[in-house]
Amino acid sequence: MSLWSELAKHQRAGEGRHILDLFEDAGRAADFTATAGEMRLDYSKTNIDARARELLVALAEESGVAAARDAMFSGAKINETEGRAVLHVAQRAGDAAVIEVDGTDVMPELREVRARAYAFAEDVRAGRIVGQGGAITDVINIGIGGSDLGPAMATLALAPWHDGPRLHYVSNVDGAHIADTLKGLNPETTLVIVASKTFTTIETMTNARTARDWMAGLVADPGAQFAAVSTARDKTAEFGIAPERVFGFADWVGGRYSVWGPIGLGLMLAVGAARFEEFLAGARAMDQHFCAAEFAQNLPVLLALVGIWHNQICGHATRAVLPYDQRLARLPAYLQQLEMESNGKRVAMDGRDLERQSGPVVWGEPGTNGQHAFYQLIHQGTRVVPCEFLLAAKGHEPDLAHQHQLLAANCLAQSEALLRGRSLEEARAIMAAKGLDGAELDRQARHRVFPGNRPSTTLIYPQLTPFTLGQILALYEHRVFVEGVILGINSFDQWGVELGKELATALGPVIAGADASEKDPSTRALVAYLRAHQD
Ligand code: F6P
Repeated sequence: MSLWSELAKHQRAGEGRHILDLFEDAGRAADFTATAGEMRLDYSKTNIDARARELLVALAEESGVAAARDAMFSGAKINETEGRAVLHVAQRAGDAAVIEVDGTDVMPELREVRARAYAFAEDVRAGRIVGQGGAITDVINIGIGGSDLGPAMATLALAPWHDGPRLHYVSNVDGAHIADTLKGLNPETTLVIVASKTFTTIETMTNARTARDWMAGLVADPGAQFAAVSTARDKTAEFGIAPERVFGFADWVGGRYSVWGPIGLGLMLAVGAARFEEFLAGARAMDQHFCAAEFAQNLPVLLALVGIWHNQICGHATRAVLPYDQRLARLPAYLQQLEMESNGKRVAMDGRDLERQSGPVVWGEPGTNGQHAFYQLIHQGTRVVPCEFLLAAKGHEPDLAHQHQLLAANCLAQSEALLRGRSLEEARAIMAAKGLDGAELDRQARHRVFPGNRPSTTLIYPQLTPFTLGQILALYEHRVFVEGVILGINSFDQWGVELGKELATALGPVIAGADASEKDPSTRALVAYLRAHQD
């Protein structure tokens, strides 16, 4: 019997069992917790028992996770549909690292660009690089997808370390985004970073031109207040950005894996090079853990296996990421791209249809806000949503330590409630204490039952620092990679975004008046509505 079949059989056999029953094993909480440095992953509040873990670890081994991991780290071209290596890990590799692609060590150039980006960021922060009106007060990062979500999320996450110019992130082609951002900014003291791996992305290039036009009327040399992060030097030159203001990276860094290099320029500007180095050190520590720890103790592997268990084995189609950390408010959005652009594929690496479901729908919001919005469904809806909680032991506001206690209590309370639930007897006792009886007591009690037995994991760490953030992001990157390897997916291409882009390019002129007869009736009617209402 295949491991997949054995896992399915084992899952069915344990279906009636309550997760709470697994805690009859007094060692479970410790046994189903793994650590990397000071970070701890508790997956004991899931229905994974020792046998399931054994099978899952065997699945990871059989799927060739170790070989794929080593191939990735060594620079092999594992992104087979684009013929590229996958080396985001090179961006945070140690000083002595030598990593070859096609026989050439890629590290010297990578270090040179990083040093230039650091120098640029520090020069801006120190007022050595200025705008027409003096020191740079505001920086706008124009990018989308991986050229936005990573740095925007990380900039918010590391707010306690901000001691540079104010950072603004503009991504949407909706003119409202850039218009609202530019409002109130002084073009004479604003720096614009155009962040685009390809430098062709329509949203980014449109917003970049809008920013340049905004500046042009008021600043004599707008080019002096622009910088670019891109792999396409010819295109950045065409746009008018001086070569010394362009920070390149290679095509073997995927957009959604690019925050560690020059795409992180906004973060470098906000927190400085030293903090950025700590961020890289955290990721490096997770890389080392991923490469060295045995699978049953390996955080990225375990998180991936928990994901496979919940999605492909138990059939839970979505996964909620719930950081009890306001500064990780953008983490769910970042993880949506990371997971769904990487593993949302219907075809395996070899071109055949996937035998199982692709990666899950990822969604979430910070706690405690989500509690007052969608947790109702998580607790009492008919679908099970595996939850991933994140929590720091300590906040950054010593005067508000009591608020952090409340935050932590809420986080733990939610995973406890999901686990334990509330039985009909308990609900009946509550209603009886309120003076109800008979049929009304029964009716009201049923509304107050929580089924419980709902799985969650908790990732807990001492404090959200640059180092911790690096660990967390690298953990999730490798988790997505391991899931992809197990499912046979190439996690590093994104062909699924292309068709919409092509059709949008064709539809622009149609909305403006060109012939719409080739379009389907619904699209024709929508175009007609737009034409009628756009005058
Ligand atoms: O359309 C998807 C995508 O290619 C992402 O993978 C990428 O992160 C984003 O667009 C932005 O691309 P670029 O950095 O080339 O502008």
